[in-house]
Amino acid sequence: MTFPVIGVVGGGQLARMMAPAAVALGFHLHVLAEAEDVSAVDAVAQSPVGDYQDLDTLRAFARGVDVLTFDHEHVPNEHLQTLIAEGVNVQPRPDALVNAQDKLVMRAAIEKLGLPNPLWAAVASVAEITAFGDSNGWPVVLKMPRGGYDGKGVKVLRSDAEAAGAADWFDAMSPLLVEEMVPFSRELSALVARTPSGEARAWPVAESIQVAGVCDEVIAPAPGLPASVAEQAQSAALRIASELGVTGVMAAELFETPGRGAGYLINELAMRPHNTGHWTMDGAVTGQFEQHLRAVLDLPLGSTAALGSIVVMKNFLGGSNQDLFSGYRAALAAEPTVKVHSYGKSVRPGRKIGHVNVIGSPDDDVAAVRARATTVANIIRDGQ
Ligand SMILES: Nc1ncnc2c1ncn2[C@@H]1O[C@H](COP(=O)(O)OP(=O)(O)O)[C@@H](O)[C@H]1O
Ligand SMILES: [Mg+2]
Repeated sequence: MTFPVIGVVGGGQLARMMAPAAVALGFHLHVLAEAEDVSAVDAVAQSPVGDYQDLDTLRAFARGVDVLTFDHEHVPNEHLQTLIAEGVNVQPRPDALVNAQDKLVMRAAIEKLGLPNPLWAAVASVAEITAFGDSNGWPVVLKMPRGGYDGKGVKVLRSDAEAAGAADWFDAMSPLLVEEMVPFSRELSALVARTPSGEARAWPVAESIQVAGVCDEVIAPAPGLPASVAEQAQSAALRIASELGVTGVMAAELFETPGRGAGYLINELAMRPHNTGHWTMDGAVTGQFEQHLRAVLDLPLGSTAALGSIVVMKNFLGGSNQDLFSGYRAALAAEPTVKVHSYGKSVRPGRKIGHVNVIGSPDDDVAAVRARATTVANIIRDGQ
């Protein structure tokens, strides 16, 4: 067999969406699935079920793969170090990945690089949160440094009384991360990919709209973003990737802060394909899933140029309708240019179950493209 085998730890929608790219290029994709019914299982030929926290399970899965990569950031870092010591090609490597696994490590790394952080501190008690809030202003944002996603593990504290109410957060882990509540104008995403040899490319910076801590919609390129901010954000993300030794796709989530510092602050890093990059599947010459596979295999990267003047990605989250296919006829009829990506997941309220991409034409305005994407996503979610 001359084509490489890529092993992905985790069988969520990100692993699932790597599959078409792997098929197109002739690569073999294996997934270590959390359960028999997770999103990626239908899309790949081999998907053994096993616990990604268990070293022997990881060892067995890694046997015979050319490269091991990830659908999520929750694999214990020390297991990855062991696998590398045993000769497994892990991409990204654990010393880079730790910056996406631990927000305190990430904040310190961003500070060391001299890139723009919000005000932050490591806190080990309610008294330390209160001291931070009193000196930097309330509200503050308290974060679990590890294990959070989609806003789980993030809490806004408006006063010292609310800080006292968060005392039980220290039961889960300590220290925690506290940050100023950034008065941002919007959230941005600087998406890049880098190979082990050091080739790197950046996609256009996108705007991401979060609802209740969950990515809801992405507009690329970010409308009206000053070119200087876009360039600085891209070069910051490329610099982070290169200095931290990141391989594969990395998303730098940013806050736009017009008039303050460089015009943006860094929120967090993700080292894998990211929801804010789903627009690239249909909206860029090379989508993030293909690019991730190329990058972890140390192959030359593809062009990141956008295919339209405006590209909108809209997620659909689980609602009360269980039969997603029931809306397809109406959804596809409503918008012939739409691209639907459904994750094959059972419907639960608030769960990410799919997204749509719409590529605008040059005479479309942003609001019209957004409205078209939202219409289709809502029809599928609601079944009508
Ligand atoms: N310091 C902050 N100031 C203002 N809003 C924040 C801050 N940190 C996080 N948020 C909001 O909470 C969301 C989730 O926080 P994030 O750190 O990205 O956690 P997660 O790992 O769950 O994505 C962000 O996308 C943003 O909307
Ligand atoms: Mg985030």
